[in-house]
Amino acid sequence: MNEVDYSQLKIPTHVGIIVDGNGRWAKERGLTRLQGHDAGFENLKQLAQYILKRGVKVLSLYVFSTENFKRAEEEVNHLMDLFVIMYKKNLHFFMENNIKVVFSGRNEPLPPRVIKARDELVEATKDNAGGIVNFCMNYGGRAEIMDAVKKIAKSGIDVDTLADEDFRHYLYQDLPDIDLMIRTSGELRLSNFLLWLNSYAEFYFPKTKFPDFHEADFDQAIIEYTSRDRRFGGIKNN
Ligand code: FPP
Repeated sequence: MNEVDYSQLKIPTHVGIIVDGNGRWAKERGLTRLQGHDAGFENLKQLAQYILKRGVKVLSLYVFSTENFKRAEEEVNHLMDLFVIMYKKNLHFFMENNIKVVFSGRNEPLPPRVIKARDELVEATKDNAGGIVNFCMNYGGRAEIMDAVKKIAKSGIDVDTLADEDFRHYLYQDLPDIDLMIRTSGELRLSNFLLWLNSYAEFYFPKTKFPDFHEADFDQAIIEYTSRDRRFGGIKNN
């Protein structure tokens, strides 16, 4: 396939990806769900690197929702192990690529080994300036908004002075709005992902399951995004 000329394309500042379809990808191949997650995990690093190299500043990845704790114990434990491996064994990857890692989500009931590996990675990469990867892990969008409201209430600030634009400062991370939200595997739902930041996002729903969503698939998403007419509730310009 020919290389896509990115100079002709609009580059979103913030891309969100709902990582989906690992289980179905595995089933189609007669593999276990755990092997599906391993394949998704393998795909993630190269894809994240490619996306940030293309000029995207922030990449938010929905890798584990609060609801995912309801899955079988074996699957949850395997995912927790993958997170620890990702965070512990890939420090050189994030440093070489100058990527700052942040997290969105609640601590409870994450295992201490995951929290420790996560916090060490955040601390080690905090001065990197080549792009941000925001891992949404044990994350829920309504919980995030509730937690922000509680933070505001406890801060003692005069709520009448609070503007719409200020609210993001109280979220788990202070990030710009999502411009392009991708959910792989053909599911057409937001599933509680970054509710506040997704208000004006363009949605893209490829049928490709996450382990097969590679660079060329991301190029297609950017081509589609470039063709969208974003009006943010205003009037059409052209
Ligand atoms: C959704 O597929 C995927 C997940 C719940 C987990 C995603 C996690 C990884 C790819 C692990 C790597 C990430 C890090 C940060 C180390 P699904 O199980 O819902 O698939 P299905 O809908 O086909 O069953």
